[in-house]
Amino acid sequence: MTDRAEKYDALIIGAGAAGLFCASEAAKQGVRVLVIDHANKLCEKIRISGGGRCNFTNIHTQAENFLSDNPKFCVSALKGFTPQHFIERVDAENIKWHEKKLGQLFCDDSAQDIIDLLLDACARHHVAIRTGEIVASISHTGQGFTVETSGSSIDAGALIIATGGKSIPKIGATGFGYDVAKQFGLNVIEPRPALVPLTFDGDVKAMAHDLAGVSIDATVRAAKPPTPNQKKSKTPPAFQEGLLFTHRGLSGPSILQASNYWKEGRSIIVDLCPGVDTQSVLKGHKNTDGSLAIQKILGQLLPKRLAAKLAELDGYHGNIADWPDKKLEALARRLKAWEIMPIGSEGYRTAEVTLGGVDTNGLHSKTMEAKSVSSLYFIGEVVDVTGWLGGYNFQWAWASAHAAARGVIAKKL
Ligand code: FDA
Repeated sequence: MTDRAEKYDALIIGAGAAGLFCASEAAKQGVRVLVIDHANKLCEKIRISGGGRCNFTNIHTQAENFLSDNPKFCVSALKGFTPQHFIERVDAENIKWHEKKLGQLFCDDSAQDIIDLLLDACARHHVAIRTGEIVASISHTGQGFTVETSGSSIDAGALIIATGGKSIPKIGATGFGYDVAKQFGLNVIEPRPALVPLTFDGDVKAMAHDLAGVSIDATVRAAKPPTPNQKKSKTPPAFQEGLLFTHRGLSGPSILQASNYWKEGRSIIVDLCPGVDTQSVLKGHKNTDGSLAIQKILGQLLPKRLAAKLAELDGYHGNIADWPDKKLEALARRLKAWEIMPIGSEGYRTAEVTLGGVDTNGLHSKTMEAKSVSSLYFIGEVVDVTGWLGGYNFQWAWASAHAAARGVIAKKL
């Protein structure tokens, strides 16, 4: 601690969803909080989230909707601050919202409503917020932390890292939080882009390019990981949502969801006709109307452009009556389980979140405090807890922020 330094009970680095929510929750109970951010504009991720309407929570949130090396870690925080708790805050501010689908809650008007909710709560409880401030160094002193920044020297009893993941660097995302974790001897699970479009080469790349803009309802899952040492590997979940062909590859919610479970060298499996028994449909047509062209039948099951492309690529032509049963069965299987091999993803440039992060084995699940460094906390996306698409990641930001605020308050009392 130095004499010239400003003094706060808690310093939060990162003024995004988790940082600002933690700040107001702690300040409400009398904790003196400063939040600093290196960006000049606050809450850019919230602003662009949910297509500008912020999918701020999901009413079906459960631990199963998150990926982590330690899948049970998130349970305590998620129980301590539930979607209903956040909805109460939203209702208290008279923010109008609606459920779009699958429990996903969006603002009726704009994501700005959520930004205002956070900033108003901070203002009400006298949280100091500074933007454009770059951290130069962090040191741990007997009584807390000293943080030197581009503009000041700050002493704080508690230090809360809320700097998010690496996704979308152009709006200020950095790997800063991982570096802080490493500085204090904490392990970091290798970060990787997630909720991200996948890229392909060869025929699939050409096909996606030609079909850019076509979207279908599909069920997508990443192939099961290999099973070293006879260990049972879990089949990744399948997601039935939109799939979009793009100039670069495949996107849409079903692909983004599956991308969380995909790794280089593994395939993804696409059911192009979810809910349709393609074997019965094809055989039924063969029995009742053999003069139908196979391409026409495909056109009844899929968008015409996609049907024509598949027919062109795989040489599907002729009347269905001329197709031997074996060939029809193979086509039916292909429609239900089109197995394709991504060569990569679009990376952090477009990824909505970052998988991996600060290893939860080093954190207390009730407070997010580092087990080995008193009063150092990690919250939000920087932690190795990553949600599915659909409001889960903001719910994690609120819940982990709330848990850390409880931790800081308990120490101060
Ligand atoms: P967040 O990224 O929000 O904030 C981190 C802050 O730290 C930023 O202000 C950044 O500038 C700052 N920072 C970074 N490095 C720093 C440094 N070195 N020094 C100081 N400050 C630093 N989720 C969801 O649930 N529903 C949705 O609708 C969407 N939609 C969506 C769309 C898009 C396009 C993206 C990219 C992401 C989403 N998400 C989402 C994910 C969601 O936005 C994300 O999980 C949360 O914003 C994470 O909150 P955090 O506060 O942890 O990080």
